[in-house]
Amino acid sequence: MGKRVAVVSGGVGGLGTAICRRLAQDGCRVVAADLAGNEERIAAFRDATNDLDISFAPLDVRDFDACGELVRSIEAEHESLDILVNAAGITRDGTLRKMDKAQWDAVLGVNLGGVFNLCRPAVEGMATRGFGRIVNISSVNGQTGQFGQTNYAAAKAGMHGFTMSLAREVARKGVTVNSVSPGYCATAMVMALPEDIRAGIVANVPVGRLGEPDEIARTVSFLAADDAGFITGANIPVNGGLFMSF
Ligand code: CAA
Repeated sequence: MGKRVAVVSGGVGGLGTAICRRLAQDGCRVVAADLAGNEERIAAFRDATNDLDISFAPLDVRDFDACGELVRSIEAEHESLDILVNAAGITRDGTLRKMDKAQWDAVLGVNLGGVFNLCRPAVEGMATRGFGRIVNISSVNGQTGQFGQTNYAAAKAGMHGFTMSLAREVARKGVTVNSVSPGYCATAMVMALPEDIRAGIVANVPVGRLGEPDEIARTVSFLAADDAGFITGANIPVNGGLFMSF
């Protein structure tokens, strides 16, 4: 069997880069799909990944047609698309009373709309070939809600509803669909928070620190493995104990 082919949306981002590296180290051929605009960011990504089988594909996950084209071009070039990791995510924080429609639409469009836009074309081939691994990067804040994040928490909780529903639909086809819910990790998204707010959050993390992107990537790798076929519709929290439940 050839290499498994993986596509990671938001692949150039804080968690995405670590996920790309980890899947490539697992032996996958990885396509990092992300916005094309920021050349410096992409150059840094190439530097961080050029020792591995990882290529970059420009993609705006809000664009349904572009998502379909990317999926079809990967399937044409690599003869398969086995693993899809939806890691594209943004924040536009603000209390609801200060939130405008653009902040709502942006977060729902990228974080939740993007999941539909990529899963819809990708699941066809996975079901036909009888193998697939879809991993949706949700958030602890989808499980608990967070002050200033009605948009983000709605999208992240919505992702897991999507995960459970699609998991049921494709379970008989060898395709698993799971969520990973990271806590606060050392990424640009979290480092952009005002320092006092971030410190207040970390003070409530039982492990007492931010997570490392590699600690999320490790969990994605676990779910994406060939022998993870009995785990589906699950949500794996990786949050340093910030939110415990069962
Ligand atoms: N709970 C309850 N009350 C709070 C609160 C909280 N967590 N935070 C602030 N308040 C109170 C304030 O004390 C203040 O009260 P008063 O009006 O009586 O003074 C009031 O609510 C307004 O607070 P702010 O002044 O902070 O409001 P703001 O509009 O200036 O800022 C905000 C709002 C931008 C949302 C800011 O609070 C913030 O950045 N919060 C953090 C949001 C957050 O954690 N985002 C996570 C981003 S990282 C991520 O999303 C990754 C992931 O998946 C984990």
